[in-house]
Amino acid sequence: MREIGIGLLGLGTVGSGVVRLLQDNQAKISSITGRRLTIKRVIVRHPEKHRDTKLDGVPMTANIEDMIQDPAVQIVVEVMGTIQLAEDYIKRLLQAGKHVVTANKDLIAQKGGELVDIAAKKQRDLMYEASVAGGIPILRTIVNSFAADQILEVSGIVNGTTNYILTQMNQKKVSYAAALKSAQDLGFAESDPTNDVMGIDAAYKMIILTQFAFGMSLKLENVTVEGIDKVRLEDIQQAQSLGYTIKLIGDAKEIDGKASVSVGPTLIANSNPLAAVQNENNAVVVKSAAVGNTMFYGPGAGELPTANSVVSDIIAVTKDIGIGITGNTFNSYRHQVAIAPNSA
Ligand code: NDP
Ligand code: HSE
Repeated sequence: MREIGIGLLGLGTVGSGVVRLLQDNQAKISSITGRRLTIKRVIVRHPEKHRDTKLDGVPMTANIEDMIQDPAVQIVVEVMGTIQLAEDYIKRLLQAGKHVVTANKDLIAQKGGELVDIAAKKQRDLMYEASVAGGIPILRTIVNSFAADQILEVSGIVNGTTNYILTQMNQKKVSYAAALKSAQDLGFAESDPTNDVMGIDAAYKMIILTQFAFGMSLKLENVTVEGIDKVRLEDIQQAQSLGYTIKLIGDAKEIDGKASVSVGPTLIANSNPLAAVQNENNAVVVKSAAVGNTMFYGPGAGELPTANSVVSDIIAVTKDIGIGITGNTFNSYRHQVAIAPNSA
């Protein structure tokens, strides 16, 4: 069986999950793709920290050049984070002819169009299902399953950390600080959780969803953003006494040809299914002309749910390589970037 070489850029929460899924489900993945997926190289910041990892014999260094120059690596998984460094690495990897799968919403929300163009020029895949709503396969669902429909609005809970904090405060009366610490320990929060609690992580995800739903590119400064840092236990309790739950809600719709996108703490009636979305779970509601309302629910953060989205992208790329297709798999995304820039 032919081999496809995988390079891992990052071996933290998500990277470790990717290793585990590739190892545990190797036979199933090979039967689907007709290829054996083998991890050939790992890049981390502190290689000495990872001596006990279950990757016997796989070279692990801190130098990206080792990955760029390695002909055995065909698909690189970027689960390192950062914006500028990841942008630089991904550009160089694409230029070197590697396919790239990433979970990096910060980068895709800001530089997605540019990176997709480079990937297209180099006839390589750039995929990022894990960048929005962790384990929920929402991007490929929008691309594939709403292709004949017109999306009117995308909304919901797209940050696991803040939903976890609000749930813990509501149900267990845990303090904001203790709930945040617990979300960090569980691997849901970003390495610097500021973007989570300030609503910026959710805003990045809404920017990507806006691109997919309406074909409009917009910048962070065009999104109205408020985080949960000012939500107090008393606010949550008062909302409950009135039959409401406070959730951090993202919303994107098209108004007069422009995208209107917001993120903020919102009172949700307890009869609304979004009120029942607990802990790190996310839920994305797609309102469309033909279907009406559809809600996609599941874990929005965490090791294995996120890794599953990453590995599903690796499998999609592998299938492309197997049957000789090159170029970005999200063709509609590239097309929409070109025809519908948003001046909002
Ligand atoms: P972690 O902080 O757990 O892991 C980051 C990894 O990247 C570490 O192995 C680290 O190396 C490595 N790394 C960091 N900086 C560098 C660098 N300069 N050079 C080389 N390697 C580096 O992050 P997560 O796994 O939680 O997240 C990774 C990405 O996935 C982020 O973009 C995040 O937003 C995204 N994501 C995360 C989700 C989650 O639930 N955690 C869900 C969806 C997306 P070392 O180990 O040596 O320090
Ligand atoms: N920090 C992010 C969250 C990870 O809590 O939703 C998933 O993107």
